[in-house]
Parts: sequence; structure tokens; C-alpha cells
Amino acid sequence: MLHAKDFILALLLVGSTVCLEVEITPTQGEISVGESKFFLCEIVGVAKEIDWYSPSGERIEPNKPEITVTRNDESSSTLTLYKAGVDSAGTYKCLATNGDQSAEATVNVKFYQRITFKNAPSPQEFNEGDNANIVCDVISSPPPTIIWKHKGAKIQMEKDVRFKILPNNHLQIRGIKKTDEGSYTCEGRLMARGEIDLKIIRVIVNVLPTIRVWQSEVNATAGVGQSAILTCAADGYPEPMVTWARAGVLLESGDKYSFNEDGSEMTIMEVAKLDEGEYTCIAKNKAGESEQELSLRVFVKPKITFLLNQSTSEMEEQVTLTCEASGDPTPTINWSFGLRPFTEGEQASWTRPEQHKSLDGNVVVRSDARVSSLTLKYANFTDAGQYLCSARNAIGVDSQPAYLEVRYAPKIQGSVTVYTWEGNAANISCEVLAHPSDVSMLWLRDGFQLPNANVTKAKVFQSPTASYLEVTPESENDFGSYNCTASNEMGTESKEFLLIQADVPSAPSLGEVEPFSSSARVEFQEPDATGGVPILQYRAEWKTVGRGSWVQRVYDVQGGALSEVTIIGLKPETNYEVKMSAINGKGEGETSPAVVFKTEPVRYSYANGIFHFFTEDSEGEPEPPKLEGTLQTKGNSLKVNWLKQDDGGSPITHYLVRYKPKHQADWKPEIRLPSGSEYVVLSGLEWNTEYNVFVVAENQQGKSQPGTLTIRTSPEPAAIPDIDGESALSTGIMAGILILAFVLLLLAVDVTCFFTNKCGLIMCLCGKPGSGAKGHNLEQGKAAFLKDESKEPIVEVRTEDECTANHNAGGPTEPSETTPLTEPELAAHTAALALDTLSSVATISDTANTTYDPAQDSPSSESTALTCSLSGLATDPLPAPAPAPTPESNTAPPTPFISTSDITARVAPPVRPPGRQLS
Ligand SMILES: *[C@@H]1O[C@H](CO)[C@@H](O)[C@H](O)[C@H]1NC(C)=O
Ligand SMILES: *[C@@H]1O[C@H](CO)[C@@H](O)[C@H](O)[C@H]1NC(C)=O
Ligand SMILES: *[C@@H]1O[C@H](CO)[C@@H](O)[C@H](O)[C@H]1NC(C)=O
Ligand SMILES: *[C@@H]1O[C@H](CO)[C@@H](O)[C@H](O)[C@H]1NC(C)=O
Ligand SMILES: *[C@@H]1O[C@H](CO)[C@@H](O)[C@H](O)[C@H]1NC(C)=O
Ligand SMILES: *[C@@H]1O[C@H](CO)[C@@H](O)[C@H](O)[C@H]1NC(C)=O
Ligand SMILES: *[C@@H]1O[C@H](CO)[C@@H](O)[C@H](O)[C@H]1NC(C)=O
Repeated sequence: MLHAKDFILALLLVGSTVCLEVEITPTQGEISVGESKFFLCEIVGVAKEIDWYSPSGERIEPNKPEITVTRNDESSSTLTLYKAGVDSAGTYKCLATNGDQSAEATVNVKFYQRITFKNAPSPQEFNEGDNANIVCDVISSPPPTIIWKHKGAKIQMEKDVRFKILPNNHLQIRGIKKTDEGSYTCEGRLMARGEIDLKIIRVIVNVLPTIRVWQSEVNATAGVGQSAILTCAADGYPEPMVTWARAGVLLESGDKYSFNEDGSEMTIMEVAKLDEGEYTCIAKNKAGESEQELSLRVFVKPKITFLLNQSTSEMEEQVTLTCEASGDPTPTINWSFGLRPFTEGEQASWTRPEQHKSLDGNVVVRSDARVSSLTLKYANFTDAGQYLCSARNAIGVDSQPAYLEVRYAPKIQGSVTVYTWEGNAANISCEVLAHPSDVSMLWLRDGFQLPNANVTKAKVFQSPTASYLEVTPESENDFGSYNCTASNEMGTESKEFLLIQADVPSAPSLGEVEPFSSSARVEFQEPDATGGVPILQYRAEWKTVGRGSWVQRVYDVQGGALSEVTIIGLKPETNYEVKMSAINGKGEGETSPAVVFKTEPVRYSYANGIFHFFTEDSEGEPEPPKLEGTLQTKGNSLKVNWLKQDDGGSPITHYLVRYKPKHQADWKPEIRLPSGSEYVVLSGLEWNTEYNVFVVAENQQGKSQPGTLTIRTSPEPAAIPDIDGESALSTGIMAGILILAFVLLLLAVDVTCFFTNKCGLIMCLCGKPGSGAKGHNLEQGKAAFLKDESKEPIVEVRTEDECTANHNAGGPTEPSETTPLTEPELAAHTAALALDTLSSVATISDTANTTYDPAQDSPSSESTALTCSLSGLATDPLPAPAPAPTPESNTAPPTPFISTSDITARVAPPVRPPGRQLS
């Protein structure tokens, strides 16, 4: 600037002498469009005025907005172009005047256009498939060169023909794809100025929604509060929104419809038949919208809407049951009666409304849409009852019964002929079927109602469905016809019944006779004529051929028929004749012709071993007894009865009984019973166990095959807390305690007796030497008794008697038939022994051998005292006058049967300590 000032000073110095000089700084003006620029016009010399002229030659007024002219001082003026446009280009002139002196200078202002993106918006959106025109309008002067870049590289137009740069520099992508989405760079270059500028344009490709549907038909059931869900999955860019319409009306969320977030799922609540139909789902986004139709199918469960009971009578023409049902799809209607369905042929589907007939042509089922009728052309009383109407469609079935009432006049049943004999009452049964069942029944005899004065021996019994006329004929006149007349509101029916004189049966015909040595089995056939009433008995008579008198026996017919009898008591190897007759209520019929047979000889056979099995034809030994077992209610015991069979010609001497639990190998000790015995009671058995029982009959010839029985004992009663042996044990303890108390009482009584009446046990004990110790005990007993005065002396004399006997037996134990028993087997023995005792009742002759004397089994005299009291107790709990005292137990009157629980108590070890205390 110093330099400039010096220069100006120089000019001034020159100017004052010469003239005005004008200079514009800068001398050249190049402005980018929109830029602002100023020019300074300086004067050398004195100038009154400094003016600027526009390119058009007009003087520029000062203080215009875009172009301002400012006089700085005497010698300078500034021209400012604000945001100049191209139109401001041209030559500007600065003119200085002073009087007539003037000077001027010019400056040429030139404009240029920088690279400018006039229209290159971002983002630019297109729909997939469009021919996208990516706009990038760039201006510059001189015009720029445009380059398009994508993903950092120049787009190679040659490589992808879809890309093209249009003459206006726009980038065209034909059939734009979603993959073409991204940032594109529009770059302008100006070689002349080395200028470069770029614009990044984001290209978005929108995709039209597409709808995916999994189920275009949805099924739902009406009337059950069910909801149906229709689903439309929509894809597209941007994420489409789904809306739903029905018949062109947009559906809105509410009571009926609800939608999920993006609308792709519509729930139709409480589906009803009305909801059936087409639904449109509409998916919409920027790219556009798509639609899809879905249909809702609404099913309705079958429901029987009409069905009535019907009533008819046998007289009427026909009756029709009608069943109406609703449902969707329309239900098919079926009928059934009881277990009988009306088969396919009788049924008609609503799709084939034809008429079908049942096999007998009586039932006609006619079905039409929703209605089916069942017609009975004529009603039989057997047609009355429940008819089931079933309506079925794809989703369900509804069934309802209708009742058909058939009214009919009484129908009389019952056998027409009734047999009886004089003096024997017989019932004539007039059984009636009728509906209504309100029936009045009458009996008539020769036109007169019964009972009446002439037929005294007739009684009438009424039941709702029958009338019984009980007639006891007195004479021939009472036989004949009786008329039963039954009537209800529908009509009357009568039937003649015949009371016929029964006859005695004809003779049975004898068949084969199978002889044994002492018996024979006689087969026979029922008489041809029973006389009208059942045969009650058969009589068999037999005798040795040619001599002797007839022996007879009558056999009862039990439970139906009898076709063979066994006659017994025959002698071996003897000719016999046998004949038979049948007996019914009326009397005994004719006797059959006699049949002759010969009994077999006695055959000896030698038994070795306890169970000797004989061949079929071996004889001489008894037949095995037939066994029958009964479980006893009290305790776990079993009573086995047997029926004596043929003894093979030699009387049975005794029976041998063996038994064991089936699962065990060892038998309980054999029990031997006298020949007259008919049963044995086995006790102390295991609960719920199968037992085998064998009974063998033995005679002189040997042993029979065993009669066998297998029986399961009852399950253990729950009420007994202990199990098995323990329960027996505790029962034993209980019994022992009771017994002890009782014995004490007895002793007390006895003591009382001794002191008052000089009788009783003490009396007898005192009569013997060496009984001092016992006397001492008895005094204690008396003391005990006296203390307890509340106790009554109940039992006395018998006890004393038994006790004496037992005490005697308490000495050295005598061997007896029943004593090969060892201590551990005590319980089993007891049972067996009890049986012996029992059997002794049956046969007195065997008593000496088999009577069980408990004392024999007792190891000490202490327990003897106890057991003797016990047997007194068990034997006869009531006071009874004593029979004459007998010193020997063996000859004592047979001891009555002792129940097993008593026995168990007596021999069970826990009982003993109290016994010891006693003595
Ligand atoms: C709807 O019911 C029709 C007629 O019973 C059946 O053919 C179709 O399969 C069912 N559609 C569905 C989705 O259960
Ligand atoms: C039809 O009869 C049955 C049995 O007699 C009865 O329970 C039912 O109520 C009756 N139904 C109509 C509709 O009368
Ligand atoms: C009625 O039914 C019974 C038994 O099915 C038959 O025996 C009888 O003949 C029928 N009655 C009529 C009138 O059809
Ligand atoms: C009707 O009867 C036919 C033939 O007995 C059977 O197949 C069908 O299931 C029955 N339909 C109904 C609704 O019980
Ligand atoms: C006849 O029937 C009535 C009623 O059932 C009965 O009480 C009566 O004992 C019967 N009489 C004879 C002899 O069976
Ligand atoms: C009873 O018998 C007599 C004589 O046979 C007859 O006249 C009378 O009508 C009979 N009465 C009745 C009620 O049967
Ligand atoms: C039974 O008696 C009635 C009344 O006397 C008569 O009408 C009917 O024919 C008689 N029935 C028979 C089967 O004899």
C-alpha cells in the first residue's frame, strides 16, 4: 500500500498539472454466481463527481440493494455487487468529472457458475420394479461432467444394462430391485477449474405388500362361544399394515372383532351362523396395497327341535313319529328301537329323499331335509317303547327318545291245562299282558262267577299282571273248564283253562344194573307218562331170587331228574331181583318188571401203606366216601361231611382222616374215627389257605381209595388285630384269664359248699390223704370268694365230679390211641383230639378208645387242675345235677363236643402260668 500511496501522490502531482485519471481496482472481475464483490474506483486529480455506469450504460444510482455505489472520499468510490447474478455481468464504467474535465476507467465483470446441485433430493423412493430415475440436477459454468457411484465404485454401465445415465445426467435403473437399495453418489467435475462436488443420494426401494395365507377356509362351530381366527401374513417394504373388511366395509375392533398389533390376525368372537362368509384382508404400504379373501365356514351342531311321544292302539291304522333337527351341515337322521337300528335300507339320507321300508314292510322311514318320520303301518303291542331319534352331522350328534304307547286289549298267557287230584290245591294262572295295565279279571265256571257258594273250594288271588284261581277239587265235578275273562278299556279277552285229573305215573323202565359185592347201581328211565304232575319219588324193591321178602327203599327226586339209584345191603355173590315204581303227588304208579342180577364176590386185597390206591375193578374194599366241606362261621374251622358209599360187602370198621394245607408237604397226624361217624370238624386252620382233606373208609378187606376234598379257608377277618398264631395266642391268653377267674369262682363256690353243706371238691379232696397243700390253696380261694361277695355261686357239682376224675388221670399218663403226639404239634393234635371227642358222641362203642382226656396230654398235675375246671366249663356252663361220680374217665358219659377255641385255650402254653399260681 505504501507503494500505492507513493504512486497516488505522484499522480496527484502530475494531475494538478495535467488532467484527471481514473483507475478501478481490481481491474478484472470474475465472480461465482451468488458471490458478492466490490470494486474501488480511484481518481487522480480533483473530481467533482464519480459515477458508476452499468453494463447497459445507465448510471447506477447509489443505495440500490443489490448494487450499491458508495463515495468513499474526494477521490474514490466503491461499487459493491451483492450476491450477484449472471445478469449482472458486463462492463462497468467509473466516470470522474470535474467541470469539463472527465476521465473514465472500465472493469469487465465476468460471472462463472460453480458446481451446484440444484435438484438432487435424498432419499429418493421407488417401488420395486419401477424404472427408477434418480434425480441429480447439477449446474455449473461451464457445464460439469457427472459421475455416478454406488458402493464406493463408479457404476459400470456396461456391466449392468439396467443402469443408464440419461442425457440430463439422471441415473436410470430399469426394473429397480430391493437389492439396488442404498446410497448413490452423484459427483460433478469441472475440468476447467478442477472443481469437484458430490451429493450422496439414498435410494429406497419400496416393496408392494404380498399376503401369505395358510388357511383360506376356516371352520368354526356356532353357538358354543367359540372364537375363530383368520390370519393374513403380509410382507413388503415398508412393513405393511393389515386391515380387514367384509362386504366392502372395514371391520373395526370391538365386541365382535379384535386384531393383533399389525392387524394380521383377526379374531371373530362368539361365532354365530351369521358370521359365515367371505372376509377380505387388505395389506397396505407406500408401495401400494394387496388384498386376499378368506372364508369362514360355520358349522352348527345338530339339535333335535321337534319330537313328540305318540300313542296308538292295535286297532288303529298307522302311527308316525316325527323327528326334526337343525344343524349345519344339515344332519342325517336315524331311528332305532331298543338295540335295533333301522338299517341302512330303512334309512334315507336327506340327500336322497326316498322311501325305504323295513324288512317286514311294517316300518317306513321317510327322511327329508331336517325331518324324518317313522311310520308303523300297524302297531303291534311289541312295538311299544322308546324310539331313539339321532341327528348327526360332521361335527356332532344329538339324540332324543320318543315313546310310543300302544294300547291293547288284554292278552291271556299261561298254560291252558292244569293237573291236580282230588284234595290237592292247584293254581290255574291267568297271566295277562295289557296296556293300560288296569285290568279287571274274572273267573267263570259254567257261566257263574267264582268264587261262589257252589264252588267252595275255589279261591282267587290277584296280582297286577295275573289272577290265580286256586281250586281244591273235591270230586270229579270240580274238574273241567274254567273261563278267565280279562278286560281293560281297550277290550276284553277270555280264555278257557282246563283242570284235569292227574294220574299216577306209569312204570319206569329199568336199564342196566351194575352190581358190586354189597350194592348195585340201578339205572332207569323216567316213566312215559307222569300223570300230568311231577314225579316226586321212586321206590326200589329188591330181594334174593326165589326166597326172602322184598326190601325197599324210597328215593327222593331232588332238583329235577333222577336216573339211577344205588341199592345197598346186598350179600356178595347172590342173585337178586329188583323192580321200581314212580310216585307223584297223586300216588304210586305201576311197578316195573323185575330185573335179575348177581352181586360180585368179595375180593381180598392187602393194603400196604396208608393210602393204597386201587384199580377200578378191585373190590372188597369200601368205595371212597363222598366228601362235602362247609366252612364254619365261628373260628377258622372246617366241617367235612361224608356220605358212606358201598362198603364192598364188609362193614366199615373206621374212617381215617388226613388233611394238610395244599402247599405243604407234610400231613397233619391222621385222625381215626369210628365207623358210624359222618363228619369231622377241622379247626385251628390257617386263614385263606387251600386245604386237602382225604377220608378213607376201612373194612376187613382193606382201605378204600380216599374221598378227597380241596377247600379254601375263609380270609382272615379284619377285626382281629394280630396275625396267624399270635391271634390264637392272644385269644388263648384272653380265654386263660377268663377261665382263671371262673376257676377262682368255682373254687370259692366249692369252698362255700364245703363249709356249709360238706360237699363239693374240697370235700372230696379232704377225704384223701396228702391233700394238705391243696386245702391251703382252697382256703385262699375261699378267702378270695368271701372278699368278692357279689359273685354268685353258679356252677358246682359237675365240676367237682370232673375234677375228681381228672385228678386221678393226672397221675402217670396212660398211653392211648390218640397220644403219639409230640409237644410242638399241640395245636394240630388238639383239633384231631376234638374230633375224636366228637366222634365218640356218635358211637358209644368206640368211646373207650377215642375219647380224649385232656389230662393225658398235660405234663403236670398243676395244669390238670386247670384243664379239668375248663372242661367242666366248656362242657356245661349251666348248673346241672351231677350224675353219679365215676372214678374212670374212660367210662364216663361221652363228653359233648368241645369247641376248638376252648381247646386251643386249654392247651396253649400261656395258659399255664395262671394254672401254676392256682395250685
Ligand atoms: C372344514 O370342514 C370341511 C367340511 O367338513 C372340511 O372338508 C375341511 O377339511 C375343514 N377344514 C379345516 C381346516 O378343518
Ligand atoms: C314322553 O314319554 C316319556 C315316558 O313316558 C316321558 O318321560 C316324557 O316326558 C314324554 N315326553 C313328552 C315330550 O311328552
Ligand atoms: C305282534 O308281534 C308278535 C311278536 O313279534 C307276533 O307274534 C304277532 O304276530 C304280532 N301281531 C301282529 C298283529 O302282527
Ligand atoms: C345311521 O345308521 C347308519 C346305518 O345303521 C349308520 O352307519 C350311521 O352312523 C347312523 N347315523 C346316525 C346319525 O346314527
Ligand atoms: C296259588 O297262588 C297264590 C298266589 O301266588 C299263592 O298264594 C298260593 O299259595 C298258590 N297256591 C298253590 C296251591 O300253589
Ligand atoms: C248252585 O248250584 C245250584 C244247583 O246246581 C244251581 O241251581 C245254582 O244256580 C248254583 N248257584 C251258583 C251261584 O252257581
Ligand atoms: C268265557 O265266558 C264269557 C262270558 O260268559 C264268554 O263270553 C266267553 O266266550 C267265554 N270264553 C271262552 C273261551 O269260552
